[in-house]
Amino acid sequence: MSAWSASPPEALPAWRRLAALAARPRQARPRQLAEGDRFARMSARLGPLLVDYSKQTADVEVMDALEAFGRQSGLPAAIADLFAGAEVNTTEGRAASHTELRKPLAAAAPEVAATRRRLLAIAEAVRQGTHPDGDGAPINAVLHVGMGGSHLGPELAVEALAPLPAARRVRFLATIDAAAVRRAVDGLRPATTLVVLASKSFKTQETLANAELLKRWMADALGAPAALRNFMAVTGDVAAARAFGVAERQCLELPETVGGRYSLWSAVGLPVAVAIGGPAFEEMLAGAHQVDEHFAAAPLAANLPAILALLEVWNANFLGAGSHAVLPYDHRLRLLPAHLQQLAMESNGKSVRRDGEPAATHTAPLVWGGEETGGQHAFHQWLHQGTRAFSADFIVCARRREDEDMAAAHHDWLLANCLAQSQALRAGRTAASAHKRAPGRHPSTTIVLDELTPRAFGALLALYEHKVFAASVGWQVNAFDQWGVEFGKTLANAIHESLTAERPARLEDASTRGLLAEIKRSRG
Ligand code: F6P
Repeated sequence: MSAWSASPPEALPAWRRLAALAARPRQARPRQLAEGDRFARMSARLGPLLVDYSKQTADVEVMDALEAFGRQSGLPAAIADLFAGAEVNTTEGRAASHTELRKPLAAAAPEVAATRRRLLAIAEAVRQGTHPDGDGAPINAVLHVGMGGSHLGPELAVEALAPLPAARRVRFLATIDAAAVRRAVDGLRPATTLVVLASKSFKTQETLANAELLKRWMADALGAPAALRNFMAVTGDVAAARAFGVAERQCLELPETVGGRYSLWSAVGLPVAVAIGGPAFEEMLAGAHQVDEHFAAAPLAANLPAILALLEVWNANFLGAGSHAVLPYDHRLRLLPAHLQQLAMESNGKSVRRDGEPAATHTAPLVWGGEETGGQHAFHQWLHQGTRAFSADFIVCARRREDEDMAAAHHDWLLANCLAQSQALRAGRTAASAHKRAPGRHPSTTIVLDELTPRAFGALLALYEHKVFAASVGWQVNAFDQWGVEFGKTLANAIHESLTAERPARLEDASTRGLLAEIKRSRG
């Protein structure tokens, strides 16, 4: 794999140019950038998506400097390496092969095609109400157990794409909390429930604790010998799943080169295929594949994931935007901010560059957000009149076919509010009273889906995956490892031991010791 850039980001000529452009006096960055053909120049279609970045506070000079920064960062070579299967995940010596998962079946690698065929066959059996092993035993619910990338994408996709009755047949358990377990199994019968253990490592504490608990739940109902009959495992460690007791024929393997937060397209997507059906699942893959082809081939100046990534660098590193808000104007996309939080923050929340040196620049901003228009009654005051710089994405669908039986006015109001809020954040408001003024100049991108179809949904998620990767190339961090999350998990083991053992384990700090003592006292 080639070294994508000869110098760290802050040493690149284009970085210095961007700094100079950002230092221009505010009046040189007019509130209403030259209108005219701005929308025509700064919006583009990508399959079922329209991406409008004309409300960004980047004029022609900034866009040119960002493109130069992309070139000097080696972004074209990095994109080529990603699709060539090079070891882009440098600290683990692996490729990142999530794009392989959404190639058309005929073009996919044999092992990808085989797993997809098995996935679709299992999903169809369950959709027909029967056990995947074909013995005709009835199955009428799926309980998907997983965390992070083994949960967020699948639940988002089911909520976004599944019609209500089908969505109700798929449940998710994604925390280690008895209340969540009770809610997850409420009304389910062990005999007709398929438990899917989704864990690439098959080591995640919460998932394994839930697996043991559900094994007891099954054993109490079906008897110990049949306890694991209704378990499936989706994992990179089939041996561990077999050791837990899951039958070989009920294990689906995950490739080592697909990261959890990029794994919706793999067998982790099983609950999605159950909820929406095989053809729709393949449409979702096709939407993502269409964006892959664009990302791989489009020149930087017309490459939408690259443009969004470079604008993120402009906002986060030169305009002081410490956070990026994801604002879906669609109830069915209410879980999108949580998914993108993991995708962006676990990928680019890094402070050491790929070359092993400490980053001298900021890297990923905080990613947050919430369902709209609820956000307008919760945090938009902060957006309009707070003191912080931020950027935002507005996401909305142009049309809603299934709403014909409902007043179309509901959707018209969602559209009107979406466009109004992005306009207000851009334009701001002058007023006699200082309390009523809003500074404006807040940058945003608006992404319009023609309709929330599987293809448009797949395209939207792939757009973000490639934006995250392109931004990682600009910041020169590795988007595909997550060493930071291992740290907290190991500490939890020691503290769990002192909670449950008679003699407390050696604990470093007074606060933890004090908290444990208090907890033990209140538990009596
Ligand atoms: O959050 C850390 C992490 O490893 C994520 O990257 C991953 O998606 C999640 O935990 C679950 O991991 P696994 O699929 O191995 O259970």
